[in-house]
Amino acid sequence: MTKSSLSSASITGNLPTRFVGQRVIYYPSLTSTMEIARQEARQGAEEGTVIIADEQTAGRGRLKRAWLSPRGNIALSVILRPHMAHLHSLVMLASLAVVHSIEAVTGLKPRIKWPNDVLIAGKKVCGILIESHVQRKRVDYAIMGIGINVNLRPGDFPDISPTATSLSGELGRDIPRLSLVRHLLVEIERLYLALSAGQSIYGEWQDRLVTLGKRVRVTSADTTQEGTAESVAEDGSLRLRRPDGSLVKILTGDVTLRDQ
Ligand code: BTN
Repeated sequence: MTKSSLSSASITGNLPTRFVGQRVIYYPSLTSTMEIARQEARQGAEEGTVIIADEQTAGRGRLKRAWLSPRGNIALSVILRPHMAHLHSLVMLASLAVVHSIEAVTGLKPRIKWPNDVLIAGKKVCGILIESHVQRKRVDYAIMGIGINVNLRPGDFPDISPTATSLSGELGRDIPRLSLVRHLLVEIERLYLALSAGQSIYGEWQDRLVTLGKRVRVTSADTTQEGTAESVAEDGSLRLRRPDGSLVKILTGDVTLRDQ
């Protein structure tokens, strides 16, 4: 397993971006990159600052879940300060950036499970967590947290092995994390600049979704609903057709595909 350390200098060196990844704060081990990113953002860190760790001891997932983050994987958070109109698109942006980077570095063809899990062969390879602070209808900061199972043997972690995969697990060889991190940062900035220039990333995100047309169970903070995932809107919400024929709009949740 590739457990060589990352470093700030190796990530930033000649990185072809204007601001994303031009400042990288690296930790061999920390609680969660989201925590440090929030502290940095509150203290005025410039947009594009990246917090990255070889290992997280208290990695956080969506819906208050824990995120397993051993050495050999990628765990990073990017501080962004988007316009309010683009805040909801960060979920799409992050998942597309991950898909493009994995494709470029490995040749694998990942898909997206609404809203933003990245899957390979039906199993989760990446989780994304967006946290933001909005004041008087302005985004003070948004933090894009990305965790990718790179050089992880899912079999070593029985809690996640039924539903998770890793890049090394799919390819049977170690994957260079540095190359993947650098691709990812370039791709995040490219899509972010496109979004800021008024381009839409919704169409491509929708094309990559595995969820549409499938029978699904959607678990949100306090409800579980079943039905057919009919469509997604430009704001990223899911339209679920319930068995009684009614259509419900769901802003966020966790989807289980019922037909697999
Ligand atoms: C999920 O699928 O539930 C989201 C997982 C997000 C994990 C990443 S790893 C980097 C960043 N730091 C965290 O503590 N969480 C995110």
